[in-house]
Amino acid sequence: MKNYKIAVIAGDGTGPEVTAEALKVLEAASKKNNFRLDLTSFDYGGERYLKTGKVLTDRELAGLKKFGAILLGAVGHPDVRPGILEKGLLLKIRFGLEQYINLRPVKLYPGVWTPLRDKGPDDIDFVVVRENNEGLYVGEGKFIHKGKKNEVALQVSRNTRKGVERCVRYAFEATRRRNKRKKLTLCGKTNVLTYAHDLWWRVFNEVAKEYKDIQTDYAHVDATCMWMVKNPEWFDVIVTDNMFGDIITDLGAMIQGGMGIAAGGNLNPKGVSMFEPIGGSAPKYTGKNVINPLAAICAGAMLLDHLGETLAASQIEKAVMDVTQNKLKSLAAGKMGYGTKEVGDLVAERI
Ligand code: IPM
Ligand code: MN
Repeated sequence: MKNYKIAVIAGDGTGPEVTAEALKVLEAASKKNNFRLDLTSFDYGGERYLKTGKVLTDRELAGLKKFGAILLGAVGHPDVRPGILEKGLLLKIRFGLEQYINLRPVKLYPGVWTPLRDKGPDDIDFVVVRENNEGLYVGEGKFIHKGKKNEVALQVSRNTRKGVERCVRYAFEATRRRNKRKKLTLCGKTNVLTYAHDLWWRVFNEVAKEYKDIQTDYAHVDATCMWMVKNPEWFDVIVTDNMFGDIITDLGAMIQGGMGIAAGGNLNPKGVSMFEPIGGSAPKYTGKNVINPLAAICAGAMLLDHLGETLAASQIEKAVMDVTQNKLKSLAAGKMGYGTKEVGDLVAERI
């Protein structure tokens, strides 16, 4: 029987609650499909930081390399200064494990309310490939004359040919594998970011020559936001840099029904990848059994898909669709018509 070693970082706030439901569903999927998940839990997050002062040590980071994949609940704690956990945990894992792709499907499931009137599941079904190791996220920059009237703050967007190329190449491959509209849109801002996105533009067009079966397109990031609202059906796969990817995938999450359903994967195609609901720790809902676990469950499905358990992954997705279509009143916390645990049960019993 196949056995996968999975690291589980449930994290803060509602992270543990949604992670428990994801694990419940993964357990059902593993039983049905005859594989085993060997889970190891880690208490990394805000609580531990407040107790010990440790976020994630280099040793702990290295320890994560032994696993087949990582499932993350949520990080973010109201008593921890913004940036500490984000940089010290989430970004440290993304960068340290070279998870250079952030894959974020934007898919409207049946029965799910979208703020886009006149748009349905046939219209909202695309994938964002966000570069995950470079750009403005490298944390390079400086203050000049800090605190003075003539202060200047510099923040560098670092884009390497190697980093851009592997991301763009992944996006072309993903577009081909997806085999839908076979269209890849580069989202950038070439009219203003005349260095960074000039590189993206050149690399994109060079790599495109190897993928004659894929139709290519380009949209500035502002226009991308406009089209995502007005004509989301135009998109199949979008590839973009780290910062723009962060922004447009929150918009994407909203048109697919909100943070209750949006999941993503931080991928190192040759290493250890990490899957997470893309919403935060939602501290105000902690312990109330009201948070929607579907995003974490969908992250679990992405994890299985990544491990090669594609059948199990699609069974989970089908079960989620059945639940959104026939059971839930809403995807919003506290308005689902069921509690967190009951939603997990509904999905698990459909596997
Ligand atoms: C996300 C989050 C993170 C990001 C934050 C928490 C650092 O917003 O996963 O999209 O900006 O990437
Ligand atoms: Mn974000």
